[in-house]
Amino acid sequence: MSDQSLFPVPPGFAGSKTIDAAAYERLYRRSVEEPDAFWAEQGKIVDWIKPFTKVKNTQFTGDVSIKWFEDGVLNASANCIDRHLATRGDQTAIIWEGDDPAQSRHITYRELHEQVSKLANVLKARGVKKGDRVTIYLPMIPEAAFAMLACARLGAIHSVVFGGFSPDSLVGRIQDASSTVLITADEGVRGGRKVPLKANADVALKSCPEVSTVLVVRRTGGQIAWDASRDVWYHEALATASADCPPEPMGAEDPLFILYTSGSTGKPKGVLHTTGGYLVYAALTHREIFDYRDGEVYWCTADVGWVTGHSYILYGPLANGATTLMFEGVPNYPDAARFWQVVDKHKVSIFYTAPTAIRALMREGLEPLERTSRQSLRLLGSVGEPINPEAWLWYHEHVGAGRCPIVDTWWQTETGGILISPLPGAISTKPGSATKPFFGVKPVIVDAEGKELTGATEGNLCIADSWPGQMRTIFRDHPRFVETYFSMYPARYFTGDGCRRDEDGYYWITGRVDDVINVAGHRLGTAEIESALVAHEMVAEAAVVGYPHDVKGQGIYAYVTLMTGVEPTEELRKELVAWVRREIGPIASPDLIQWAPGLPKTRSGKIMRRILRKIAANEQGSLGDTSTLADPAVVDGLIENRMNR
Ligand code: PRX
Repeated sequence: MSDQSLFPVPPGFAGSKTIDAAAYERLYRRSVEEPDAFWAEQGKIVDWIKPFTKVKNTQFTGDVSIKWFEDGVLNASANCIDRHLATRGDQTAIIWEGDDPAQSRHITYRELHEQVSKLANVLKARGVKKGDRVTIYLPMIPEAAFAMLACARLGAIHSVVFGGFSPDSLVGRIQDASSTVLITADEGVRGGRKVPLKANADVALKSCPEVSTVLVVRRTGGQIAWDASRDVWYHEALATASADCPPEPMGAEDPLFILYTSGSTGKPKGVLHTTGGYLVYAALTHREIFDYRDGEVYWCTADVGWVTGHSYILYGPLANGATTLMFEGVPNYPDAARFWQVVDKHKVSIFYTAPTAIRALMREGLEPLERTSRQSLRLLGSVGEPINPEAWLWYHEHVGAGRCPIVDTWWQTETGGILISPLPGAISTKPGSATKPFFGVKPVIVDAEGKELTGATEGNLCIADSWPGQMRTIFRDHPRFVETYFSMYPARYFTGDGCRRDEDGYYWITGRVDDVINVAGHRLGTAEIESALVAHEMVAEAAVVGYPHDVKGQGIYAYVTLMTGVEPTEELRKELVAWVRREIGPIASPDLIQWAPGLPKTRSGKIMRRILRKIAANEQGSLGDTSTLADPAVVDGLIENRMNR
């Protein structure tokens, strides 16, 4: 796809407050030239208990310190609920659509207020107070939203763990956060199948003795084990709780949540977001990039276990008084028309999903789409990985019938909200490009030495200055925060992504340049999968890389060296896949495992991943220089037996 295919704003896309290209440029320039003035104004998008007088106080050098609106006082739950009660108490805040198409629920802002206040009182009675960490391990049910907002109401820090993670992964996250309360459900339901959340939690909690309360939501009524000294039914606890719980006044820089995400090395990092800047940024980006208008139904298909669910199912939309749809199911259950049926059923105007879902649905042809009207759709969004032009075009032509602009939104767990995206109505789009930076965001492209590259170019993507939604630290590990994001290119935030800027100044994200892979929109560290593999008694060594995958974007390719004397068999291959599923979760299952008698290493013993990536991608013709390897012959053997042909 050449840079020349430019898609102007579709003529039918009427934006009430849509700005044009010139206005975007003007506002953008002001936002980066006068950040204090710009953000002082935008900070008013939320209600402050005590207004801020300071706006930006950030420093990307030395010890790195990031503070926004630091003397302001607010509460995120009050902003997402209470402030809407007078004007839209009876408006639907959350539409819940069950896995089973016969199940859905509408929750008004008033009901949300009641549910959240009661739960906050239950937590309070269990000893939870400002600053405590609460781990949430729930499926996509309204209680997940209630739980996050109840924590925010008390000033407790929530740590949501994706329901697809294994007991081991849950242990690591509970221990790192030192939570004493866990909120889970008996089982989850996805695509007609049950997910044994409570059973997983029971296994995990054997290693977490400090957890003294487990609140259990009854979702399916399935059989579960019960420890009366610790387990409490959610519905029973709420039955007697008061619905009066005043929101805790929080400093702008008091933590709102921790969310664990994978990096190139070591254990997942506890990304810490604080209250004021995060909420301002989530609300503003949601309003501007999704062009949200009163009364519309907005649907983001992410799971609340990921940052997209935090910012764009929950905090952004609810801060704006929107109606946000929460979907328990999967795109292809009962069949491949499900997304579009949900759009028709609830008259969704704005639909935000991941390229992997679009690619999977593309494979099913047009018939599922033809069974639905999708007339209510006005705007489409994409997030999580680069969208290939074919998928973009299919999304545009068939899902949106050529009528809806697409916002390809680039951002990260660390950034809190969208950093690069078209503003719909303001900018012509190009399939595969996230286009231009949002207000206040200063992208820079640097070469390997950190030299800033100008004009049309390609290199590593950094951000030159802070924005309010930026993460503040890694929970309890500030040195790792500084090292991970600010040491490679001093005084700049390094994103870990590669990026190209074209002659029109459009940004094209080319994917991760570190050892993080993006599998079906899920971010995974290759190091985590390797350490899961080597924990198996028959594995001596493992190296994991990503390779191009038609639907998932990237697949997981593992090179495994077995212990001396162990026979590589088909059975062992299956066992290792099952092992990784158990250790981390189904999302980390290797797609391909190649037995590797040896791995390509430098003379100092470092694995040459560049070579392994090429072989996995079936690009062995362009291996580059292999003369520095300790044993160049290893490579021939690996090429000979490669799995991806
Ligand atoms: O590589 C980029 C990719 O996803 C990474 C961030 O993953 P995570 O923290 O899990 O957050 C995902 C949802 C925000 C980025 O470093 N990524 C995300 N959005 C895009 C993208 N790559 C290309 N285009 C996007 N729109």
